[in-house]
Amino acid sequence: MTVSGKADIEGLMRIGAVVAEARDEMGDHVAPGITTAELDRIGRRVLDKHGARSAPQLAYGFPGTTCISVNDEVAHGIPSPSRVLREGDLVNIDVSAELGGYWADTGASFPVGQVDARARSLLFATRQALHDAMAEAWAGRPVDAIGRAVERRARRSRLKVIRSLCGHGVGRHIHEDPSIPSVAVRGHATRLWEGLVMTIEPFLTTSATTFVEDDDGWTLRTPDGSRGAQFEHTMIVRRGAPPLVVTAGARA
Ligand code: CO
Ligand code: CO
Repeated sequence: MTVSGKADIEGLMRIGAVVAEARDEMGDHVAPGITTAELDRIGRRVLDKHGARSAPQLAYGFPGTTCISVNDEVAHGIPSPSRVLREGDLVNIDVSAELGGYWADTGASFPVGQVDARARSLLFATRQALHDAMAEAWAGRPVDAIGRAVERRARRSRLKVIRSLCGHGVGRHIHEDPSIPSVAVRGHATRLWEGLVMTIEPFLTTSATTFVEDDDGWTLRTPDGSRGAQFEHTMIVRRGAPPLVVTAGARA
């Protein structure tokens, strides 16, 4: 969507704060021994408290409230009481929800206990890739600038980008146009415009650039078992200023 006034900005900031709170609260509970179903319940409590509704449930009939993906699962992992987090795992938590007709989407990856150096660098570089890309996201800039920034960061850290997992417009639904690729797409002439509400969500891995879908019909994982990380914010594009981040949360 394109924001057209104060009410839009307030509605987006309200749901943005809710999904950020759920993300942060769930992140606080990431530890060896917890199950992904328990983490999901924590997220659901936050959404319920504010009267927000899970976006993947509402839009796609997803079996969980949030998406929780471990290690080589890169996205859309289904929370499960039999999935126990273990020391050294990487876990991605993606929370998106609707409140009062406005939708927001955020994600973050977390280490479970102590993780190895490669995993730490994957987390650092992916978070940095999101921030590098946000620094390019001004009205008038080509959509391409975002993918170029993500690729530059990945290259420097000798990591790879999953090419077909993209950011997207958001605001009045969970997935809207335009698509915001995390790689530079030749001939992608679209420019960002003032008021555009969108996500940036780079998925970096230690080697894979593609993914495969599990038999469960939801979970996306790397074909070669390499680990992935993702960080995502919803933001409003501005003219002459960096984007207004909707999902920064109370701790930013
Ligand atoms: Co998301
Ligand atoms: Co998204």
